[in-house]
This record gives sequence, C-alpha cells and structure tokens, in this order.
Amino acid sequence: MKLALAPMQDVTDLAFMRTLHRIGSLPDVFITAYFRSTSTTCAMAEHNLRCIDENETGVPIWAQLAGSDAPALLRDAAALLERPGVAGINLNAGCPSPLVNRHGAGAGLLRDLPRFADILLQLRACLPAGQFSVKCRLGWEDAAADFPRILDCLAAASPDETGIHARTRKQLYGGTPDFSYVKCAVQHLACPVLANGDITTPQQAMECLESTGAAGLMIGRGAVRDPYIFRQLRGGAAPTPEEMQQYFAILIEETGRILLHKRTEKGHCNRMKKYLAFCYPDFPAEQEHALRRCTSMADMQRILTQSPVTCTENNYAGNAAARK
Ligand SMILES: Cc1cc2nc3c(=O)[nH]c(=O)nc-3n(C[C@H](O)[C@H](O)[C@H](O)COP(=O)(O)O)c2cc1C
Repeated sequence: MKLALAPMQDVTDLAFMRTLHRIGSLPDVFITAYFRSTSTTCAMAEHNLRCIDENETGVPIWAQLAGSDAPALLRDAAALLERPGVAGINLNAGCPSPLVNRHGAGAGLLRDLPRFADILLQLRACLPAGQFSVKCRLGWEDAAADFPRILDCLAAASPDETGIHARTRKQLYGGTPDFSYVKCAVQHLACPVLANGDITTPQQAMECLESTGAAGLMIGRGAVRDPYIFRQLRGGAAPTPEEMQQYFAILIEETGRILLHKRTEKGHCNRMKKYLAFCYPDFPAEQEHALRRCTSMADMQRILTQSPVTCTENNYAGNAAARK
C-alpha cells in the first residue's frame, strides 16, 4: 500500500512534514501545495520551495502545479524538476477555489476536457517516466457524466500515478466521497490509483482500499488530526494521549522554526491554529473554545496539556472556516 500526504496549502507544510519525521510516522511521498502557473509567471511561493529545499526527512517530495496554460505548465515543470529534491510533478485538477477556477485551473480543468486532455498529453510527452502524476476530482458537478470522460483523458496520457479526491468540484469539501468512482479508475487506468477524501481512521482506510482495489491512499486532514495514522497503517500502534501531546509540542517547535525571524507571538499562535482547526473535533468544547481564543503561546501550550486528546470518529462539522 502506498501512502501519500495530501497537499494542503499552509497546513501540510515544512513544519508538519518535519513533525511527521520526528514522531516516526511517515508516508511514502509528500506533495507540495500548488505552485500557481500562468502564462506570465509561476508563483514560486517561498514556503512551498522551502518544503522542497529543506526537506531532510528522506521522504520524496513531488511539486504540484495548478494552471491551464500548457506552455506555462511545461516551463514551470521543467524549472521545478531542475531543483534537486523534486521527485516529480503533480498536476492539480482538483482545487475548487473560484479564483483559480476562473482561469480554468485546478478543478476548472475538468470543465474543459479537451484542454485537460491536451495538457495531460503535453506534460506526459515532456516529463520523464516516473515523474508525472495527477490529482483530480470526479468532475465539475456531475460525476456520472464527467468521470468516464476524465478517465479517458487520463488513460490516453498514462500518468505514472493518479490521486482521486472522490468528490466533484460542486461538492467542495461537503457530502460523502463516492469511492465507487475510484474503483472504476482502478479498473480503467494502467497506473496506480490513490484514493483520497475523508479518511481519518485506519479502519476506514482499510475498508476504502478493500472496496476500491486502490494501490494506496492520500490522506490530508485525517493526518493533521492523527499524524500517527501512517504508523498505524503500517501495523504500528494507535497514539497514546501522551504521544498526541508530544505531537502538539513538536509541531509548536517546528512551526516556530520555520517562522524564523518573522516569528511573532500572534503569528505563531495563528499558524498553530491552522493545524488545530482540524483537531478541534477531538477536544472537549471548553478546551476547543479556549484554543480558538488564545493569543499567547504559553496559553496555547497550557491548554493543549490540560486534558489528553484521543482521536475519535470522522467529523469535520464546524471546520468549514479552516478550508479553502
Ligand atoms: C486547507 C486545505 C488546503 C488544501 N490545499 C490543497 C492544495 O494545495 N493542492 C491540492 O491538490 N489539494 C489541496 N487540498 C485538498 C486536499 O489535498 C484533499 O484532497 C482534501 O482535503 C480531501 O482529503 P482529506 O479528507 O484527506 O483532507 C486542500 C485542502 C484543504 C482543507
């Protein structure tokens, strides 16, 4: 089973990757949050580049591009591949942000399938074997109508791997992922398929693998909430409450480390809240409330050690604000 950390802008960042390394719960591959590629420029966001350049975890990292202009994507893919440490290029065909979709990028690619097909073929022609993957949704709004055509585009281009977030763009992050489409992808595509969407427990992960036949899983929010999920999926133990506290302590340290000279008390606190937003369902209401309101790191550390946290069932209600 192949395990990937799903990219999450400003969440699955260098600090989080280093934290996974320090707690000894690692996926097989990291994927950066997207670099926005346009005909005029590629936003080489410093925090994304640092994930690549300062990745000392030993886990290969793929650079993700979001764009809809084939020459620009080829230019930026080539530039990123020149950086030592980039294991391959991942094309984003899933981002639901209206800002990105307006320009036909992210999930916007799924609204113009001839363009999507062309971009896939051009990237395939230019990227070395083993260095081209795609992350996509089930379609723009109608999976039954869109997904078979998306699969034809993917099959024609033969990417080396495909991650599928089992929702349409219309669903954003709501509703239930429909993994029956992942099963179709497994049957239709020659490459390994990774299933993605709402996987938060090892049991769910195993059920998903069994029902879809997928080669692996891509886990995002579930890994922020329980970073030991990768260890568990390799047969390791569930985290103890002490290990969860250790996780938060290391994350605080690593977040401080990436903020460097830009670190302020408030900035550090706000940065921590970006991760904690996905952990709130596991805190008692009072503790959650105190964490949301806290403005000092001393307070945050005190609140986090007040009562031990254990990971509970899948429930992202109330996390809408933390999603992009
Ligand atoms: C805050 C946030 C940021 C995200 N950023 C990206 C991104 O940069 N690229 C991408 O392909 N997906 C991005 N996603 C989507 C995730 O990779 C993933 O597909 C989605 O959250 C479903 O998987 P999960 O339930 O395991 O989190 C983001 C999701 C969230 C919540």
